[in-house]
Amino acid sequence: MPQVGFGVFQIPDADQCRKVVLEAIKAGYRSFDTAASYMNEEAVGEAIHEAIETGLVTREELFITTKMWVQDMWNYEDAAKAIDTSLNKLGLEYLDLYLLHQAMGDYFSAYRAMEDAYKGGKLKAIGVSNFFPAVLANLYEIVEIKPAVNQVELHPFFAQEDALALMKELHVAPEAWAPLAEGKHGIFTHPLLSEIGSRYGKTPAQVALRWNVQRGVIILPKSTNPDRMKQNMDIFDFALTEEEMGQITALTLDHSEIINHFDPNLVRFLVTRKIHD
Ligand code: A2P
Repeated sequence: MPQVGFGVFQIPDADQCRKVVLEAIKAGYRSFDTAASYMNEEAVGEAIHEAIETGLVTREELFITTKMWVQDMWNYEDAAKAIDTSLNKLGLEYLDLYLLHQAMGDYFSAYRAMEDAYKGGKLKAIGVSNFFPAVLANLYEIVEIKPAVNQVELHPFFAQEDALALMKELHVAPEAWAPLAEGKHGIFTHPLLSEIGSRYGKTPAQVALRWNVQRGVIILPKSTNPDRMKQNMDIFDFALTEEEMGQITALTLDHSEIINHFDPNLVRFLVTRKIHD
């Protein structure tokens, strides 16, 4: 799995999404992360097929991830159907990685449907997203096929070192959503990230991404701008010192400024959110 992938959250407009994914393939991205709830699986699929048909890439070179929404995590049958729906929307015979989007609903039944689809070859790898440590530990012990990945919010302002340590211990690969903190907290002009970046001729965004990569995290930056797409991949020709790594980790606020998964009202909203009939 490539360590840098491309996220397509919040690009629901089909035409824009298709163009952005094609642009990202041209910029060198091979790994794409979508979700049933992003409402753009069809557009991502169209871009993939256009890229394959025009000889830009082969299916084998691509690494495609999507996620099951909570609406389909009520029982085994709904979950099994959701996997097929995503495959159909993307127009693919298999997914490289398939994740439970949230630790909500009846996620054990949903996970069992994923294990069976994995055994049947429809899913090459399975995993979870937004599983905080205690919940990940519980699922990990119970399931037969261990989750390959846990995609969570990871950036300098939410470093989640404890969650990372557990994932490393369990050999669950950590993957970052919002590795650029969705632009929050002045990340693109942050004094520390700017100062460190100036030592290497890199932008604050590149420093933030490099920090995650250097601590073993798979990152999914997203940009609709071709230059920034390229910039976000150009992070493998420099290395942060241990001191710089520590200084960046110390920026953590120890809470998310984007979403609070412990807010019961938010949980009720997400569990009852419908993305299809
Ligand atoms: P844009 O699409 O105009 O480039 P995250 O990946 O954490 O969700 O953050 C995505 C946000 O960060 C988007 O608003 C995107 O805007 C912006 N962004 C992505 N890469 C960069 C970059 N290298 N420099 C500045 N802004 C960036």
